[in-house]
Amino acid sequence: MSVTIVYGSDGGNTTKLAKKIASKTSGKAIDIKKATAADFENCSLLILGCPTYGDGDLQTDWQDHLGTLEEADLDGKRVAIFGAGDQMNYPESFVDAIGILYDVVADKGANVVGFTDTAGYDFTGSAALRDGKFVGLALDEDNQAGKSEKRITEWLAQIR
Ligand SMILES: Cc1cc2nc3c(=O)[nH]c(=O)nc-3n(C[C@H](O)[C@H](O)[C@H](O)COP(=O)(O)O)c2cc1C
Repeated sequence: MSVTIVYGSDGGNTTKLAKKIASKTSGKAIDIKKATAADFENCSLLILGCPTYGDGDLQTDWQDHLGTLEEADLDGKRVAIFGAGDQMNYPESFVDAIGILYDVVADKGANVVGFTDTAGYDFTGSAALRDGKFVGLALDEDNQAGKSEKRITEWLAQIR
């Protein structure tokens, strides 16, 4: 399985998480600022990582480079999404970016894997939910950093 992780990060949390996921999958972590359409295509599992900013928005580099993802041929591609968020200070838009990226890749025919349960989180609303599940992995480095390692390990096992 060849794994590519494309991530964006303002404060470094998502960079750190992307590198952790890369080391656990022998994958390659690429900053969205430098990613090409081929980077999205040339892997057997594509993992996207984006923190939520503003009031439920994509991180700015993802906003600026979303066209690269939209350009890529993702038909039938296995894609998994993770997002960093803060459930305490932004309980109504917790990890919304996961849901935004989900809609983009699902529209392009991707086979999105790695949906997760909301148990263990405390929030009131999230655009990352479909049928009561997160359409990816929610990680909260601001309030639950100690849980991330286990969440990532279990998520990767589920995807494999
Ligand atoms: C101005 C601002 C707005 C934010 N808005 C949200 C939000 O709407 N939803 C959320 O879950 N987290 C929100 N966050 C929290 C960040 O997503 C979180 O701190 C994340 O770990 C940052 O990732 P990074 O260090 O990779 O940039 C916000 C943080 C800041 C500073």
